[in-house]
Amino acid sequence: MTTPHPAARANTSAPAIEAEKLVKKFGDFTAVDGISFTVPTGSVLGLLGPNGSGKTTTIRMMTTLSPPTSGTARVAGYDIQRQPAEVRKAMGLTAQAATVDELLTGRENLRLIGDLYGLPKKQVKARADELLEKFSLTDAAAKVAKSYSGGMRRRLDLAASLVAAPPVLFLDEPTTGLDPRSRNELWDVLRDLVREGTTLLLTTQYLDEADQLADNVIVIDHGKVIAEGTPLQLKDRSGAASLVITVSRPDDVDAAAQVLEGRIEEFHVDHDSRRITAPSEGVSALAGIAAAFTEAGIELDDIGLQRPSLDDVFLSLTGRRAEPGPDDQDQSDADAATSTEEARA
Ligand SMILES: Nc1ncnc2c1ncn2[C@@H]1O[C@H](COP(=O)(O)OP(=O)(O)OP(=O)(O)O)[C@@H](O)[C@H]1O
Ligand SMILES: [Mg+2]
Repeated sequence: MTTPHPAARANTSAPAIEAEKLVKKFGDFTAVDGISFTVPTGSVLGLLGPNGSGKTTTIRMMTTLSPPTSGTARVAGYDIQRQPAEVRKAMGLTAQAATVDELLTGRENLRLIGDLYGLPKKQVKARADELLEKFSLTDAAAKVAKSYSGGMRRRLDLAASLVAAPPVLFLDEPTTGLDPRSRNELWDVLRDLVREGTTLLLTTQYLDEADQLADNVIVIDHGKVIAEGTPLQLKDRSGAASLVITVSRPDDVDAAAQVLEGRIEEFHVDHDSRRITAPSEGVSALAGIAAAFTEAGIELDDIGLQRPSLDDVFLSLTGRRAEPGPDDQDQSDADAATSTEEARA
């Protein structure tokens, strides 16, 4: 191997990432069904979609880990099928499952990758320490990765994909399982990278993550693009604010839905969060609705209008709520560190 990323400069006029009618079939099943997109150099594309919609499969094709059934893609101007070696030199990947070597320390993991890229020893040492510092892992640098929490591992994973300073970075659910603070720290690091010119493609189920980071978003479902635009455009599309009612007692949710029947044409009931959501049009009678609940003896935690979020967009597009983020859910750090199934490219 030669230098880490000569590829970047080879074709600066082309978009950093382009996918053209990518298709992936597993037997009779079509996991990715003709996806096309373009990511201009230095921008961030958020790939949103529910579980099983084809996000990881798309990333695997783009990063040369899995050949497309049909269609093409280019990374830094290089064709993923005809120039896979050049593609790999130009990109970094943080896969969905943790990929660090458990028996090595954090510092050893990063140095190993630098060595594999053939970087000069001195540069590798400096780069490893710089990344450990950037990801708040300096104190843990001499400990084996096995002893890390899920959040620490996720940070080490991301650091590992940055050792060679690739101009194009693919991140498959980079912050899944992280607590809100670690997530914010990671976002800051990613923003820095983008400011320095890195192009990012990230998949996420956390819509606020896309909102925070992405210049453009594409929403996929069943392997197809069902919407695309800037986060703002997508929110505008979903219309005005929505009415959100949170019922106090789980047993009252069905009764609350009954109260709304006939008063509101269309609404969505989520038993788990005790929440009923409705489009805001025709909700001029908010006071009347609140009174009807009181009359029915249904206690509410909250009733009010909420400005649209990407969640609302997602719901209206896919008929499903996105996965709750760590802010809404007691998710243990351990969730992030699942099996080491995918090898780094
Ligand atoms: N190697 C495989 N063989 C057969 N089916 C597969 C294979 N890999 C993925 N699939 C199927 O393809 C579909 C898309 O999977 P993929 O992992 O791309 O989804 P995803 O959007 O990344 O989901 P998640 O949010 O759960 O990570 C799923 O139905 C999955 O079961
Ligand atoms: Mg996935």
